[in-house]
Amino acid sequence: MDPQKEDDRSISKGGMQCSKLSFIFFFLFVTCFVPVNGFFLKSCRISKNAALCVTTFSKLKTVPQDIPPTVTGLDLSQNHILKIQPSDFPHLPDLNWLNFHQNQISQIDSFAFASLISLQKLTLNNNNLVKLVENVFGGLGNLTELRLNTNYIKKVSSTSFQSLTKLKVLDISYNKLQTITNLRLILQHLPQLQELAVKGNGFKSFQSKELTNHTLSLRALDFFSNPFRDFRLTEDIFPSLTRFTIGDPFSNKVMKWDVSNKTFLSGVSSLDISSLYMALDDKKALLEAVNASLTSLTLNRMKRMKYTLTTLINSSCSIPTMSSLQIRHNRLQFIYLSTFKLCVYVTTLDLAENYLETIPENVFAPMERLKVLTLSYNRFKKVPPAIGNMPNLSKLDLSANKITAVDCQEFSNQTKLIELNMHNNSIQTLKPCVFKDLVQLQILRLQYNAITDLDGAFKKPLPNLKHLYLNGNKLTSIKNEVFRGLRSLLNLSLHENQIKELYSDSFVGLRNLTEIQLMSNQITKQNLDTGAFNALVNLKRLDLAINHIKYTDSEALSQTPFFNLSHLEELSIATQHYREKSHLPCNFLKGLTNLLRFSARNTQIVYLDKDMFKYSPKLEKLDISSNDLGTLSPQLFSPIQNLKSLYISRTTLQSLDFLIDANLTNLQFLQARKNQYSVITEDVIQSLPSLGYVDFQGNSFMCDCDNAWFLNWTISSAQTQVFDAYNFVCNYPEDFKGTKLLDFNLTSCSVEIGFICFVSTTCMILCFMVMSFTYHFMRWQLYCAYYLFLAWLFDKKHQNKQAPHQYDAFISYNTHDEPWVIGELLPKLEGEQGWRLCLHHRDFEPGKPIVENITDAIYGSRKTICVVSHRYLKSEWCSREVQTASFRLFDEQKDVLILVFLEDIPTYLLSPYFRMRKLLKKQTYLSWPRAAEHPEVFWEKLRQALQTGDDLKEENACLNVLQTP
Ligand SMILES: *[C@@H]1O[C@H](CO)[C@@H](O)[C@H](O)[C@H]1NC(C)=O
Ligand SMILES: *[C@@H]1O[C@H](CO)[C@@H](O)[C@H](O)[C@H]1NC(C)=O
Ligand SMILES: *[C@@H]1O[C@H](CO)[C@@H](O)[C@H](O)[C@H]1NC(C)=O
Ligand SMILES: *[C@@H]1O[C@H](CO)[C@@H](O)[C@H](O)[C@H]1NC(C)=O
Repeated sequence: MDPQKEDDRSISKGGMQCSKLSFIFFFLFVTCFVPVNGFFLKSCRISKNAALCVTTFSKLKTVPQDIPPTVTGLDLSQNHILKIQPSDFPHLPDLNWLNFHQNQISQIDSFAFASLISLQKLTLNNNNLVKLVENVFGGLGNLTELRLNTNYIKKVSSTSFQSLTKLKVLDISYNKLQTITNLRLILQHLPQLQELAVKGNGFKSFQSKELTNHTLSLRALDFFSNPFRDFRLTEDIFPSLTRFTIGDPFSNKVMKWDVSNKTFLSGVSSLDISSLYMALDDKKALLEAVNASLTSLTLNRMKRMKYTLTTLINSSCSIPTMSSLQIRHNRLQFIYLSTFKLCVYVTTLDLAENYLETIPENVFAPMERLKVLTLSYNRFKKVPPAIGNMPNLSKLDLSANKITAVDCQEFSNQTKLIELNMHNNSIQTLKPCVFKDLVQLQILRLQYNAITDLDGAFKKPLPNLKHLYLNGNKLTSIKNEVFRGLRSLLNLSLHENQIKELYSDSFVGLRNLTEIQLMSNQITKQNLDTGAFNALVNLKRLDLAINHIKYTDSEALSQTPFFNLSHLEELSIATQHYREKSHLPCNFLKGLTNLLRFSARNTQIVYLDKDMFKYSPKLEKLDISSNDLGTLSPQLFSPIQNLKSLYISRTTLQSLDFLIDANLTNLQFLQARKNQYSVITEDVIQSLPSLGYVDFQGNSFMCDCDNAWFLNWTISSAQTQVFDAYNFVCNYPEDFKGTKLLDFNLTSCSVEIGFICFVSTTCMILCFMVMSFTYHFMRWQLYCAYYLFLAWLFDKKHQNKQAPHQYDAFISYNTHDEPWVIGELLPKLEGEQGWRLCLHHRDFEPGKPIVENITDAIYGSRKTICVVSHRYLKSEWCSREVQTASFRLFDEQKDVLILVFLEDIPTYLLSPYFRMRKLLKKQTYLSWPRAAEHPEVFWEKLRQALQTGDDLKEENACLNVLQTP
């Protein structure tokens, strides 16, 4: 192999390594200055682009600073924040809503929210604010909704609300505002305000001229629970008002009503004067004021008005637009036949939360247009017969009464009823005929009664029934096609019963059912074996949580429970009632080809067969948390590559390595709390390329370098949130037990990146400087050094070659000196003295590489004669020929070099040629110009020099014949 080429290669290889190294340095250098834009939040989590910082374990005392700037919502409710300052908010240009509900904020500085230019909704309910300082909401020019409910605000400053030009909704209820002056300071800056709620403050007097001199754009005004003594409206400041609430349940003083012009409130359509204590005449005046527009009147808790209520109702009912009347909480025990005599226009009547036990049969007869009747939370023991006279009802609410039974004719006239609520009564049995006439019924609520038997009530067709609630009853068995008449039913709630018997005919007829709730019953695997669900061909959701379904092995079932449910999307068998270990048959899910969500959480399963999910290839969400699984096989997941959410918390897993081969490339959400792995490896995380959220809470982490990668990733991943990472606690090694994983010092694991960056950049700069200096000032020396090095390498190679000498001397010369060599030297030495000389133009083997020729020539000759001239020094001295020869001289301790000076060269000119000077000092040389007069002596001396042996010692004897400089 050609040594030069080999050398070239090794140099270029070295060069490659060198450039690779500098690339790495460069890369490090660059990465050092790229800001880390991680997703890891100390106390919050991001969900649907909003940061939720509501935690139960560690309450925040300040606004967290690590919220990413892209969030549009920030929920800081239920923390312990004490004050808010402008510096509290990181850069959140897109923040749309901000919630501080239930903190302990007592101080908000001026312009505290000014940086939140996009904020539209701000909630500060349930805090300790007493005073609103100047410009406290300064800068919130986009705010439309502000809630300051339930604080202790006594005072506002004149500029507190100054910036809020777009505010539409203000709720400052349940504070300690007392004077209208405060209200004026608020309203004067809010030109666009539409809804104002100032419930539960201490206003005692309202004078419109104290409030403002111009009209307000308010549409809704809520003065509920203020101890007003008078309400004086002398200017038309509320021309747009449609909803008005006034009245105080705690006041025992009469309020004076003084509205000077009947047209001032003529736009009000919804009036709530609950608990308003006024003289009857004032009340009539009030109703007259709203005479033209009132549609909805609320008269709740009119406790001091019991005997005048009928008068009030009749006054209001004579308003032709009045359609909705609410009279709750009035302790009514009976209703006079005349009460609703004039209410012919009313369509909605709410008498809930009274003490009614009976009502006159014809009491609602005048209300021909009544469609919605609410009688909930009364004391009816049976369906009031008055109902029978209201054939136009579309919604009837009899819930929360004391009804024990329903008779067949009670709803016989309700052919237009769409919704019937009878939940929270004490009904025990349903007669077969009870709902037979409710042909339009769509919603039937019978939950939380004491029904033990459906007894054919739903065998008769209820052709429009879509939603049936039977949960919270005492049903024990579903049999004999009990729901046969409900062919339109979509939802059936049967949870919280005592169902322990299901049969193949249980759900026959429910062809359109999409959702059935069966949790909290006593359903067993034998019930499933009956094929009860086979009739539910359109079912989408089936909830069998909290039952008694238990399988003792994973063997395939001969008949699977859900094989007909090809539309089912969601199945839950979570939390079954037994303590012993259980299994799931490997074909349990057979037939569920469209299943998207499956939960078998907390069912004591100890093993899952690898074929478990091969029947449900579309599965997206799998919850197998709280089972004693111990290990999971990667093959389990191979049929369900669409999986997006996986819940494997509390499954006694020792490792997450199964994920590496599970190939869950679509997994976005992983909840893996409270297991037993201590190290999260890079391979595991890299195997989940779509992961956006992961929860490893409550694992016993190993705080050593094995977790270094995980730690770095947690902090820096821009794609994946690691929930609550800040609270991960080390369990191993012993020294670190109890400390936080994120406090673990990674510097011990690797040289700090920053340091590497510093060193590499410094090195790079230094290298660059040295290289440019060297190149500029020492080009020639470098060139020399390069050849010296090559020569040394060749010399090493040829040292051991003891080839017999083919020539007596190799002549090294510059081409310009060729005439002398050919004309003088050659004839003398070869012709007269008979030496065999080697000249490159004559003796080099053609075709052989030049380097090899040179080397062979030098090592094949006893001596090397250098013909030194100015030109030679410049071009040839550093050439490989001379250097190889001089290496032979020094390293082999052989005198092979004869210097013949063709011109006089002063010593100082030789100084750059350090090696040459060294040679001249201790070595012989011949000078042609000096020998000009006696050329014979010159040739003789050359002959002698050529004759001498190789040994330096031998040579010493001859030194005296030669000249020394
Ligand atoms: C309102 O929000 C927009 C966009 O978020 C912003 O450009 C504008 O400056 C804001 N206006 C005010 C008055 O802050
Ligand atoms: C209304 O105007 C009168 C006189 O023009 C003034 O005295 C009073 O302070 C004004 N009231 C309000 C609330 O601006
Ligand atoms: C149903 O309406 C008819 C006609 O108005 C009436 O005669 C009958 O008594 C009503 N039935 C019940 C149960 O009230
Ligand atoms: C059942 O559902 C289908 C499709 O939604 C509908 O066409 C059909 O009318 C429904 N059947 C009944 C009896 O409501």
